[in-house]
Amino acid sequence: MKLLIFGGTGKTGRELIKQGLAQGHQITAVVRNPKKLKINNPNLRIVKGDVLLPESIESSFQGQDAALSALGHKRFFIKTTILSRGTKNIISAMNKNGVKRFICITSLGINDSRFKLGLYYTLFTIPIILFFYFLDKSKQEKRIMESDLDWTIVRPAQLTNGKLRTSYRHGIKVGHYVLTKMISRASVAHFMLENLESDRYLHKAVGITN
Ligand SMILES: NC(=O)c1ccc[n+]([C@@H]2O[C@H](COP(=O)([O-])OP(=O)(O)OC[C@H]3O[C@@H](n4cnc5c(N)ncnc54)[C@H](OP(=O)(O)O)[C@@H]3O)[C@@H](O)[C@H]2O)c1
Repeated sequence: MKLLIFGGTGKTGRELIKQGLAQGHQITAVVRNPKKLKINNPNLRIVKGDVLLPESIESSFQGQDAALSALGHKRFFIKTTILSRGTKNIISAMNKNGVKRFICITSLGINDSRFKLGLYYTLFTIPIILFFYFLDKSKQEKRIMESDLDWTIVRPAQLTNGKLRTSYRHGIKVGHYVLTKMISRASVAHFMLENLESDRYLHKAVGITN
């Protein structure tokens, strides 16, 4: 398939690119700084773009079969709209170019998965450190859910840089109210690619944990 990937210079995005190429997909990675992406492969096209600047991303959608987003940032303590605005721009460009399939990472703990990252996140990390970030992620999910796209939202547990394991839990009800579950970025990328042509989680937000 022809895949457009956002967040490819990040840890999960890089896994998406590496695994996607290994599976034979043709990948276009839209990144702010192409020099950061040190992957050379004839099936990888790197385009400089910023999701907050619609004109920098729009032309990349032409002829794509699907878009995948692993966007994120570390500006936790500032009230930002990077994820919701960036995703709004992605959705608009998809509509303009007739690209329907969209798989986007958010997080367990958002919207109807509230409290599912365990007590530590529920009582400390989310209200104190990630408050604004989660607010933005919640808006990001709403924008996706209100779209006419063939969307799937992937809500990981706490991310690790562990190895790819192809056996993991996924579903609407996964997560834990007390314990903080984990999942490797490699496994999240694997799950996203596995779902490209599946309608099992079409129009659904799905959790993923070890
Ligand atoms: N950490 C956890 O435990 C955890 C748990 C659940 C869910 N998540 C979520 O999982 C997702 C992936 O996490 P990660 O750690 O792999 O992310 P990451 O390493 O922080 O990567 C984020 C990516 O987003 C890109 N990006 C940010 N703003 C952009 C913009 N305006 N235009 C284009 N690209 C932009 C970054 O580009 P640059 O390289 O240019 O900055 C980077 O490639 C995030 O949404 C995160 O919140 C994390």
